Amino acid sequence: MRQDHPRVAIVGTGNIARVHARALAAVAGQTGQSEQAGQSGRTGQTAPLVAVMDADERQLKSFGTEFGVRGTYRELADLLSHGRPDLVLVCTPPSSHGEVALGCLRAGVSVLVEKPPTISLREFDELAAADGGPGPPWFATVFQHRFGSGQRRLKALAASGVLGRPLVTICHTTWYRDQAYFDVPWRGRWDTEGGGPTMGHGIHQMDMLLDVLGEWTEVSAVAGTLARDMPTEDVSLAHVRFGSGAVASVVNSVLSPREETYLRFDFERATVEVTHLYGYGDDDWRVTPAPGCEDEVLAAWRDAASGTRSGHAAQFARVLAALAAGQRPPVGPAEARRTLALVAGIYASAFTGRPVTPGQLAPGTPFYGQMNGGNPAW
Ligand SMILES: NC(=O)c1ccc[n+]([C@@H]2O[C@H](COP(=O)([O-])OP(=O)(O)OC[C@H]3O[C@@H](n4cnc5c(N)ncnc54)[C@H](O)[C@@H]3O)[C@@H](O)[C@H]2O)c1
Repeated sequence: MRQDHPRVAIVGTGNIARVHARALAAVAGQTGQSEQAGQSGRTGQTAPLVAVMDADERQLKSFGTEFGVRGTYRELADLLSHGRPDLVLVCTPPSSHGEVALGCLRAGVSVLVEKPPTISLREFDELAAADGGPGPPWFATVFQHRFGSGQRRLKALAASGVLGRPLVTICHTTWYRDQAYFDVPWRGRWDTEGGGPTMGHGIHQMDMLLDVLGEWTEVSAVAGTLARDMPTEDVSLAHVRFGSGAVASVVNSVLSPREETYLRFDFERATVEVTHLYGYGDDDWRVTPAPGCEDEVLAAWRDAASGTRSGHAAQFARVLAALAAGQRPPVGPAEARRTLALVAGIYASAFTGRPVTPGQLAPGTPFYGQMNGGNPAW
């Protein structure tokens, strides 16, 4: 069913919800009207924010006032019945994603869930089972760095064969978060966030890695809590093997005063790198062809789509376009599960001291039910 004018709601009106509201407004501004502005649509789909819900009255009121949203609710059932959304953006802390998203899907409402989609593979599979298949209600995950033109160019060129086989990859999330950041009650705990920086920060970059390289086959990892006072890791390092034969080196740290996000893909015919922090533009990418491949590689890179920064607006534009076309949006269950499974694999390997394959994370195994496999700490 095509939805040119979807009614969008947000559950959880904290920090990231504000990024969502602004990104929605930016996309709606490009494509048509905003409900609050009451103007007539110009072209394509529009995305008015019709309702919000938060368990905390103060948060709810301040968000409603800031963004001019009339429908404010304390209960999910009220949001769904009175707000009548077509799409709910789930922006609550991670441990409630599963319950909120399931409530929406069971009411026939599609959901776009912030990362991490759930705090365990078990919860994730419950959600995937409630997904309506090809039609709504569907569930998708926010991984906004898939949607900048640099990543889309890289993915397209890799798929076209112009870069040759992928061989060696580096995926570094070396960020800095002080103790106060982890003093927020839900952060850095197994039961509320499902992990530390592997689950909460590096997951974005690992998702970019898998978006290009596809199925991972084995991971070996170490992790530890070196400097912050919290039960989860504050750093993890992993080696990952892929079905293609490619290998990757992954670092997830919140202990790195000079912050940087760095991904490097060495293919047979070129190195492609991106260096940025929290979001990239075209200028953050660098392509170095192998000797003899210069003309073909650089021409292919130059001719591919450009001009889109990574970020929520880039993903929302794709989501709204998919709704308008009556299609599922990108980052459906299979893709998000692969990324979540790599996070689970890193924890499983770090806790057990052995390499882990996706098969070892099957239902009934310890790291399927909980990211820490029931272990209290490292
Ligand atoms: N994609 C990104 O780059 C990015 C960046 C930051 C955060 N996030 C993710 O966004 C999510 C929220 O993070 P945040 O920093 O905005 O958190 P936050 O603590 O600022 O806001 C969460 C809000 O949810 C409300 N809430 C809690 N439980 C609820 C429930 N069951 N029902 C309704 N409301 C509830 C809280 O009252 C609060 O207002 C997390 O999953 C986080 O990982 C993603």
